[in-house]
Amino acid sequence: MSHASFDLVIRNARVATASDTFSADIGVSGGRITQLGTDLGRGEREIDAAGRVVTPGGVDAHCHLDQPMAPPVRMADNFDTGTRAAACGGTTTVIPFAAQEKGQSLRAAVADYHQRAEGRAHIDYAFHLIVSDPTPQVLNVELPALIAEGYTSFKIYMTYDDLKLDDGQILDVLDVARTHGAMAMVHAENAECIEWLTKRLEAAGRTAPRFHAHARPMLVEREATHRAIALSQLVDVPILIVHVSGREAVEQIRWARGQGLKVFAETCPQYLFLTAEDLGIDDSYQGARCVCSPPPRDKANQEVIWNGLNDGLFTLFSSDHAPFNYDGTEGKKPGGEEVEFRHIPNGLAGIETRMALLYSEGVLGGRITLEKFVELTATNPAKAYGLHPRKGTIAIGADADLVIWDEREFVLRNTQLHHAVDNTPYEGMTLKAWPGLTLSRGEVVWDGREFHGHAGRGRFLACGTPSLQPRQSGRSA
Ligand code: URP
Ligand code: ZN
Ligand code: ZN
Repeated sequence: MSHASFDLVIRNARVATASDTFSADIGVSGGRITQLGTDLGRGEREIDAAGRVVTPGGVDAHCHLDQPMAPPVRMADNFDTGTRAAACGGTTTVIPFAAQEKGQSLRAAVADYHQRAEGRAHIDYAFHLIVSDPTPQVLNVELPALIAEGYTSFKIYMTYDDLKLDDGQILDVLDVARTHGAMAMVHAENAECIEWLTKRLEAAGRTAPRFHAHARPMLVEREATHRAIALSQLVDVPILIVHVSGREAVEQIRWARGQGLKVFAETCPQYLFLTAEDLGIDDSYQGARCVCSPPPRDKANQEVIWNGLNDGLFTLFSSDHAPFNYDGTEGKKPGGEEVEFRHIPNGLAGIETRMALLYSEGVLGGRITLEKFVELTATNPAKAYGLHPRKGTIAIGADADLVIWDEREFVLRNTQLHHAVDNTPYEGMTLKAWPGLTLSRGEVVWDGREFHGHAGRGRFLACGTPSLQPRQSGRSA
């Protein structure tokens, strides 16, 4: 009896990469893609994709898992449930955040997150850092050492009292990014404006969830986006503006690109599929589910985001999964109370739905090409954080992280999802596709019906140097 040539062969695939779509068999051995071609030799295991689209597994480069919050609030997903949900939704690599608390060393934050992930993750993971306390020790010793060890990206907040940096601190952190070749991600909202507006709304008794959007109008994002760009220009270092929500921020980024500045941009499903009305059209509390920052805007802004995905303004499409239950005492109702909007934990669930939402509405809806889908959800995130070409592509030598797509219409229900969150903002939406099979390093972790991972199989990935060039995009918003 002849020996099999591969551990696994996926036959008759419509292989989609960021540059091409072509028909091929995919040969996998030792967890890696070892051959692409037609009529490949026998595999120990064979899967007939029968002309179905096969994309790289998603790289979700912005998600929050098991991030400590001020009690009684607690994130619903840890690395077990969060990475399980990711895999069932076609994501095979996640990059959550190791967040530094003020007064804490970055090293301690990283050690803490490793403990949270180890033995729990089902798919591979890396970490971004969140720098909230840029002391001389952090800037001169810890950050350079951690960058060298594979933590090559960090997030800077311009808002949230416990995380925000002032402009001088941002310049200091950007300077470290420049010197050591790291990627700086910026949450761009003007904290002072938000606080001023929040106090005025509270004084007028306007504290229902929907007023969260009134306290964070587009202007506060626009101003901070421009300031972040200016600070990065001063230091002469690339930056990545995360979770961009609409036109005014997009205009700032287009302007920067026009100046030849290296400004990357990320957006998320909530800015394509939700509007401020999802936070409520009256003073009822249910809209707390969709409280996130920046808040979703309106239909016109959704169109601007779609255009930016299509024309290269956006580099990345991430979930910003920040999982909080609606019911109970630890999530959107802290202590079980319907609280003023300033106290509602920010963020919504999206790690499992990110890929299918963009595939359904973007690719099958005719708004973006299949290649653009792959670029935004897998290839660019892997490049931005130094994981490419091991992750984010279908190529010889890459990890066999793959999704075989089922194109079928169904109505999305939270009960079908695998996260530990009691709601999805996309409940009741008709989708046109879902991953029929997810492979992580050649192993089936999701078969369209059942999850097959096991806690602890996910490996930590040390990130390399970011390798990404922003596209010039001349179109106006
Ligand atoms: O509301 C959001 N986006 N929460 C998650 C934290 C962040 O700023 O990304
Ligand atoms: Zn943020
Ligand atoms: Zn986030």
